[in-house]
Amino acid sequence: MTETASRTTALRGPVLTFTGDPFRDGLEHTMVHEPDAIIAMADGRITQFGPAERILPALPPGTTVQEVGRDALISAGFIDTHVHFPQTPMIASYGEQLLDWLNRYTFPAELKFADPAYARAVARLFLRESLRNGITTSCVYCTVHPHSVDALFEEADRLDLRLAAGKVLMDRNAPDGLRDTPQSGYDESAALIAKWHGRGRLLYAVTPRFAGTSSREQLATAGALWRKHAGCLMQTHIAETRDEVVWIRTLFPDHASYLDVYDRHGLCGPRAVFGHGIWLGEDELQRLHAADAAIAHCPTSNLFLGSGLFDLGRAHRSDRPVRVGLGTDIGAGTSFSILATLNEAYKVGQLNRQPLSAGHAFYLATRGSARALHLEDRIGSIAPGMEADLVVLDMRSTPLIDFRMDHARHFADQLFVQMMLGDDRAVRETWVAGRPVHKRDIPSLV
Ligand code: GUN
Ligand code: ZN
Repeated sequence: MTETASRTTALRGPVLTFTGDPFRDGLEHTMVHEPDAIIAMADGRITQFGPAERILPALPPGTTVQEVGRDALISAGFIDTHVHFPQTPMIASYGEQLLDWLNRYTFPAELKFADPAYARAVARLFLRESLRNGITTSCVYCTVHPHSVDALFEEADRLDLRLAAGKVLMDRNAPDGLRDTPQSGYDESAALIAKWHGRGRLLYAVTPRFAGTSSREQLATAGALWRKHAGCLMQTHIAETRDEVVWIRTLFPDHASYLDVYDRHGLCGPRAVFGHGIWLGEDELQRLHAADAAIAHCPTSNLFLGSGLFDLGRAHRSDRPVRVGLGTDIGAGTSFSILATLNEAYKVGQLNRQPLSAGHAFYLATRGSARALHLEDRIGSIAPGMEADLVVLDMRSTPLIDFRMDHARHFADQLFVQMMLGDDRAVRETWVAGRPVHKRDIPSLV
């Protein structure tokens, strides 16, 4: 057996992936559904992909081929472009809208991260739950405590995940114990960048929580830090609720818009990921397009907090399309399941009179989200050279889905059934860098 042969693993079965943006070019030009495909992987990357009859004879001798079966579907791993790992313990907290919810539930929950051991325990649980749901990359808010970032990155590095995260910057309108200062926030973030950015597949995200909790001075230092480390991402929240937009206007009366606050502090550009953006004006969408920045659409959160209905069609308007990814926004979001998140995205679309097709939805959860993070050349699709992060879905994961699938003849219908009825039970396996890290039927794999 040659050395190459012993390094190569392959999966065989039905595959769904995207070669481009269906919102721009249509599903017929961008969606690839291959009913019997081979994906070969070595050294963490995909080495070969195509119809089994073409790839099988070309596999290195000795390659092990795992057949997933006809009732499975292999996709690129799901990508969560907006999530707060420290809010895992307070997911599903009753009865407030954004600003009261932050004060009543979120800040007390984040205060507990003063304890590094607690931070490590929650980070482990968070990543396991993400993998159980087929999420192989996330863009994550930690807390104000630098060790909360260490806790998450240590575990993500151990799993060889491609993951972005950052220490929350917050120097006002937050309780004692959760505030930093412009200087300490800058220094701590800079030290975390030096320690983690580019280690393994990890990426740092400069993370001012939002304009409500950062002074002008802190926004300016965050902008300076990001400019100095332009390969990092930048994540924050914008225009999530109407009350928040009104409040930000009172805090920054000299700015033309909410986005203008970030923009004039150097916080708008490629690799900026703005959470929510429900209440953005046309001028702000124009600016996001021109700056090549992205919006993270978080439907379960927006419905849970009663924030509003994100208008995906408006964001994608063809004369000034904005990059849009999908986010769970745990713990305002109500599910780690990307299928459940797509279910709610569909319903938000319905209320906007824009039904989201299953093909477009799966694009949003994979390549579209990779594009929002400017990572579409590495993750989010299945092709030679891409990082081997995959999810294997069970297309008959519950008795109802099994029954319903007997009545779904076309692939588009079968896919739609998954996004409307599926959840974590549909995730049979999750592969990271060419290795299985979650198998539904074999608990505690990693
Ligand atoms: N805006 C500022 N902070 C947060 C947060 O933690 N969650 C949500 N959903 N919105 C925010
Ligand atoms: Zn959020």
